This record gives sequence, C-alpha cells and structure tokens, in this order.
Amino acid sequence: MSEVLVVTYSYTGHCRQLAQLLCSQQGWPMAEISDSRPRSGLSGIARCLLDAWLHRRPPIHYDGPPPAQFDAVVLVSPIWAYRLAGPMRSFVVRMRDELPDVAVVSVMGNSGAPNAVAEIGQLLGRAPLLSTAFTSREVQDGSCAGWLQAFGNAVQKAEESPAVVRPAIWSPQAV
Ligand SMILES: Cc1cc2nc3c(=O)[nH]c(=O)nc-3n(C[C@H](O)[C@H](O)[C@H](O)COP(=O)(O)O)c2cc1C
Repeated sequence: MSEVLVVTYSYTGHCRQLAQLLCSQQGWPMAEISDSRPRSGLSGIARCLLDAWLHRRPPIHYDGPPPAQFDAVVLVSPIWAYRLAGPMRSFVVRMRDELPDVAVVSVMGNSGAPNAVAEIGQLLGRAPLLSTAFTSREVQDGSCAGWLQAFGNAVQKAEESPAVVRPAIWSPQAV
C-alpha cells in the first residue's frame, strides 16, 4: 500500500469535513494548514478576496508530518474568487521541493476549481496526478461520499501502478 497524506485548509469547515471523510474512508492521516493571522469578521472575508485577486501568499502554520515522507499528498482546499485559497497557495510554494505526487480536491459554492488545479500545476511545474471538485452543499448533505471514495481509490491505484509511458522507448531518437 502506498503512503498518502491528506492536507487541508478550511475557513468555514467544509474542506475539513471532507478531508476527515476521505481519511476515514481510506485510513490515511490528515494534516492541517491554518492562518497565522485569524480571518474573523468582514475584514477576514475581505482578506480572503484580496489574497485570491492578488495571488497573495499569506503566512500560515502547518501542523503535520513532512510531506516528503509520503508517496502522495491530497490537497483539499476551498475556492476563493474563482481561484485557489491563499493559504493553500502559501503551503504549495513553501513545500514545493518536498511534495511528492499531488492530487487536488476543491470545495466550492459552484465554480472555479479548474483555475485552482491549473495554478497548483504551475506552482509545482508538473500537473497534479488527479483532481476533483465538490460543492459545499454536497459536503453538507453527505452526497459527496460515493464519489470521494472512488477518487481516493483512484489515487491509491495510480500510486500503485507502474509508470506506463517509457519515454526512452517511445522517443524517435531511441529507434
Ligand atoms: C471569500 C470567499 C470567496 C469565495 N469565492 C467562491 C468562488 O469564487 N466560487 C465558488 O464556487 N465558491 C466560492 N466561495 C465558497 C467556498 O469555496 C465554499 O463555501 C467552500 O466550501 C469553503 O470551504 P471551507 O468551508 O472549507 O472554508 C467563496 C467563499 C469565500 C469565503
């Protein structure tokens, strides 16, 4: 079995709830990112929006084991203003040299997940292994559970599969 770590940031609780469900389904450990400066009240929401619009990397605390100890990390993050939530951006940038394969789960009102996945790919210089998205309503009513289980199984399976593309063999120069 491959070792997989779930890392989440959550402002209003949905991502934490989803990450806990994923961990309980798969038996994976969970780690959390939190804000160094709490985001309470209207000014907190304003900072969320500014972080998203300006691509800011706010200061964070990371409470979890070193990601490099794992075969894969699943990032579970909210969407803010159609973009990746700032604290997850801070985590990806801080840890990019020690992140193994990365899968991404976005939680949102209704749209913006593809932008977050694209940004994580850009920051890492490689595309995430797998990605999916849920609405906060699907997390609240539990209807995310089946697809989340399938997604977790797919991450595990992808990690256990040997690489299928062998560039040296397929390259025209190798013929
Ligand atoms: C400041 C802010 C901006 C948001 N922007 C979007 C958005 O652009 N698109 C969207 O679908 N949901 C948006 N949402 C909704 C959140 O992505 C959604 O509620 C998510 O479940 C929050 O995760 P959390 O509860 O773990 O913090 C926004 C929420 C906040 C607080």
